[in-house]
Amino acid sequence: MIDNYKIVYVPPSGTTQHTQHGWIATTGNKCVGHIRMQQEAGKRIKFLDAWVDEDYRRKGIYRKLWETRWEYVQQNYKGYKAYAWAKPMSLPLLEEKGFDKGDICVYVEKDIEGEIPFTFVSC
Ligand SMILES: CC(C)(COP(=O)(O)OP(=O)(O)OC[C@H]1O[C@@H](n2cnc3c(N)ncnc32)[C@H](O)[C@@H]1OP(=O)(O)O)[C@@H](O)C(=O)NCCC(=O)NCCS
Repeated sequence: MIDNYKIVYVPPSGTTQHTQHGWIATTGNKCVGHIRMQQEAGKRIKFLDAWVDEDYRRKGIYRKLWETRWEYVQQNYKGYKAYAWAKPMSLPLLEEKGFDKGDICVYVEKDIEGEIPFTFVSC
């Protein structure tokens, strides 16, 4: 645990991120962690963007951010369903907080190949 950091709430901007709320952990003038949530249709709340600076990990910052956000949704979003796509590092806390596991999702990728169009350049 470290105590010398503050948590700041970032309200929705009213523009492109009009449904996104954020919480930022700061020490001095540096952001060392953040977490967000997005209000969606059908009374759903998506938890996303959990990140803590590598130098500050395993000190309880994610837990503190998570609990601050949870307090906010409990006060303002009763009757909604909260969900998240969790990576292995964030899953244990979600399970500890009573979230049920759905199907496992696997990341896949492929390079798109094909001929690059020939362009004649004369100069
Ligand atoms: C995931 C992440 C936000 C955790 O931040 P953190 O401040 O180090 O986490 P905390 O110290 O508050 O730990 C809270 C709980 O999260 C879980 N946790 C954190 N790091 C973990 C790890 N490396 N492996 C497994 N569980 C982990 C544990 O349950 C932990 O509780 P405990 O300390 O009582 O065991 C941070 O490692 C990170 O930014 N990772 C890269 C981005 C990422 O994967 N984000 C998740 C997107 S879904």
